[in-house]
Amino acid sequence: MQTSVVKVDPVSPAVESIRQAAAVIREGRLVAFPTETVYGLGANALDGSAVLGIYEAKRRAPDDPCIVHIAGLNDLARVTTMPVSRLLGLAQRYWPGPLSLVLPRAQAIPDVVAAGRSTVAVRMPDHAVALALIRESGVPIAAPSANMFMHTSPTTAEHVWDDLAGRIDLILDGGPTRIGVESTVLDLSCDVPTVLRPGAISIESLRGVLGPAVALADVGTSSGAVGMKSPGTSPKHYAPSAELMLYDGERVAVLRAMAQKVADFIGERKEVGALVTDEDAPYLDLPGLVLVRLGSGNDLEAVARHLFSALRELDGRGVSVILARNFPPHDIGLAIRDRLTRAAGGRVIRL
Ligand code: TXA
Ligand code: MG
Repeated sequence: MQTSVVKVDPVSPAVESIRQAAAVIREGRLVAFPTETVYGLGANALDGSAVLGIYEAKRRAPDDPCIVHIAGLNDLARVTTMPVSRLLGLAQRYWPGPLSLVLPRAQAIPDVVAAGRSTVAVRMPDHAVALALIRESGVPIAAPSANMFMHTSPTTAEHVWDDLAGRIDLILDGGPTRIGVESTVLDLSCDVPTVLRPGAISIESLRGVLGPAVALADVGTSSGAVGMKSPGTSPKHYAPSAELMLYDGERVAVLRAMAQKVADFIGERKEVGALVTDEDAPYLDLPGLVLVRLGSGNDLEAVARHLFSALRELDGRGVSVILARNFPPHDIGLAIRDRLTRAAGGRVIRL
């Protein structure tokens, strides 16, 4: 299959390009498109065989359900039986934006989208290209992240190309994404609203709206062991090919241990990389080490934005092991921690 790439303005995409992409969606084929979080791999959410194509293209495990993307609250009734009045003000507060809500599934949503569950994850992305594509297609769009299964999510069209060229029909290239980590997944189908995947909408913010009862599933954020409560959140996820060694603990002790480990690896002639903040970089200015910076540790949003492309860059530079220091578990730091812990296969080196 030939994969076309069409450049689009991320703020005001050309109507022609959107029409072309919408035609592909309506034909039951696949389009990768930018959202504010990461690139999605989209298909008509009402067409089971189109959605099956997503699972084939990215070799996704069939038990891992997709998020359905809508462009307006009018679309909600097509995907869930939950009326907007019961969304606890979340839609008004966060949509369009990086919050996916797990809701009871409407009949029109095929089994394959929800991996056979009675629920469906829904979100309204905050990106002009995504919204225009959904509107022009005239259907909700099911879209997981546009990467090969278990690989790092794509934050540029080049990342999508590297993973999926020849396997999908079209990539809309709207440049790098603004947030860089995936949406927060909040389960509203159970008694206590539960964050299944931390993301750009912080748990602090959700507690501000819903009250302190909001729960956090054990998803690789606090302890070294990673829970398996929600599908698609297996420990080895968001992973680069290189082994990631993730450190946690008192800063200077961790940086010393990392520097020592780097020296050991280089002594063994291993290709070694490190993922660091600007502030930590001077401590790891070691010959032979491939250092990739994430921005200032005081700007967790910048770190989130650079995280996945930094992991891909280190892979591209051929290192076999990557060292990183963990981030604090507040705000978007919780999502960064979750993705790094998964990329490390759930193992954290505590000092
Ligand atoms: O930011 C995002 O969420 C991106 C963009 C493209 O919207 N999408 C994304 O999709 O990250 P994906 O498929 O890579 O991750 C979806 C997550 C998975 O952890 C999946 O298990 C969970 O949402 N999920 C989807 N439907 C669910 C359901 N019915 N119940 C529980 N979890 C669900
Ligand atoms: Mg994904």
